[in-house]
Amino acid sequence: MTAISTTQSGAPVTSDAHSKAVGADGAIILTDHYLVEKLAQFNRERVPERVVHAKGGGAFGTFKATEDVSKYTKAAFLQPGVETEMLIRFSSVAGENGSPDTWRDPRGFAVKFYTSEGNYDLVGNNTPVFFIRDGIKFPDFIHSQKRLPGTHLRDADMQWDFWTLSPESAHQVTWLMGDRGLPASWREMQGYGSHTYQWINAEGERFWVKYHFHSNQGVKNITGEEAEALAGSDADFYIRDLHENIEAGNLPSWDLHVQVMPYEDAKTYRFNPFDLTKVWPHADYPLIKVGTMELNRNPENYFAQIEQATFAPSNFVPGIAASPDKMLQARIFSYADAHRYRVGTNHAQIPVNQPKNQVNNYSQDGAGRFLFNAPSVPVYAPNTFGGPAAVEPAAVGGGWENDGELTHAAHSLHAEDGDFVQAGALYREVYNDAEKARFLDTITGAVGGVKRSDIKERAIQYWTNVDAELGAKLRANLGAAPLSDAEAANKIG
Ligand code: HEM
Repeated sequence: MTAISTTQSGAPVTSDAHSKAVGADGAIILTDHYLVEKLAQFNRERVPERVVHAKGGGAFGTFKATEDVSKYTKAAFLQPGVETEMLIRFSSVAGENGSPDTWRDPRGFAVKFYTSEGNYDLVGNNTPVFFIRDGIKFPDFIHSQKRLPGTHLRDADMQWDFWTLSPESAHQVTWLMGDRGLPASWREMQGYGSHTYQWINAEGERFWVKYHFHSNQGVKNITGEEAEALAGSDADFYIRDLHENIEAGNLPSWDLHVQVMPYEDAKTYRFNPFDLTKVWPHADYPLIKVGTMELNRNPENYFAQIEQATFAPSNFVPGIAASPDKMLQARIFSYADAHRYRVGTNHAQIPVNQPKNQVNNYSQDGAGRFLFNAPSVPVYAPNTFGGPAAVEPAAVGGGWENDGELTHAAHSLHAEDGDFVQAGALYREVYNDAEKARFLDTITGAVGGVKRSDIKERAIQYWTNVDAELGAKLRANLGAAPLSDAEAANKIG
């Protein structure tokens, strides 16, 4: 039997086709409260899209710790044999919700592990590095990649103006303009925690770690032409690919590995190991396998389970903690703040965000609150009514030594902190000849879109710093006459 339509309060609805009117073709009346409810609800269907990573899709799955890494971390879900339910959301960074999946961009790789000790969120990308190394630049960086307010268009001048004035971006831009900037699907790309995180074992010993998810589907990329064609013919190509593969039982999986650096090494390593623009060479810190993540369930409702999902780098569990990485520290503030704004103060109570373990604290009320403590639990701490009590800090761990004056500066005692070293190594030593040729084509097109001659010149210099021969080829490719200074002066500012 077909279910009857009801109002939000459960009363039967008498028509979904005709408003209540004075006579068959007459004026509709305000007492048709179902019409009012339906239109009002519709007007409130959207929450603000994510300020970055707005376009994405996700799936549920299981993570199984297959190896023994207990000498590095006491995290319960990383102990051998433990299986943990998880959610992943893949995304693009700069495009709005609805933008084509195959635009060149880093891809988000955000994982929520529903562990027995609380949710652990590893909010990473498909790239091991990032464009900047201090979160204070993040809003500026994102503004430069999105739309120019005056034209509402993406703008090569502001992109390259920002990048060339922020040379620490060179490694990530070299990565982005290479083949890996256009994955064939979300299934066929790697994932990285990117930052250096801290692991703590049961004895309280500390380690610095970097996370690597290796796709068991292999890494496959598409060409610029293929990506452009897909952007036109199927803007939701990645979402469709993930959904269809899971639906068909072709379940994607990734092996999780970590690089582990002994705590003391960080002080004397040859570059700053907390600098998000750098990778750690595997020769120094080899990959250690941890387990396997398999995606096995499509969401049933995109809005409830993916749009409202809130991933926060501040969601740690005992045995895993932050590091001195300044970017990570900015993110630890930023995400939970975004969630309170975007989804609401009680976003953690939405089913997809709820931890599987018991939540006990003294917070209460607020819009949309529907979970609450038993009436016998006191609403303040300290108390003598047996309310929840905090654990000793040592039970969680996660500190490091700090000293120095308060300052707005970055300096390092490490010998190889240069901005162009790893970018040059990626171009020269990792890309083969065919990849190098495609790379040159891509940057020729991208820098070729710059109108102001001084910015274009800075961009050529930037690539010359990455690799002198590459810079010379780019200069030759861009042989066209630059704009006059007078034309240029009108462009930005
Ligand atoms: C999303 C801020 C750097 C990966 C977001 C959101 C904000 C944000 C506000 C939207 C959150 C939401 O509305 O749910 C920042 C800031 C950064 C930074 C301030 C630098 C200080 C990074 C880095 C990575 C990253 C370095 C990767 C290593 C992501 C991902 C998402 C995201 C994957 C989407 C999460 C999801 O699927 O819900 N970021 N971000 N971000 N960010 Fe960042």
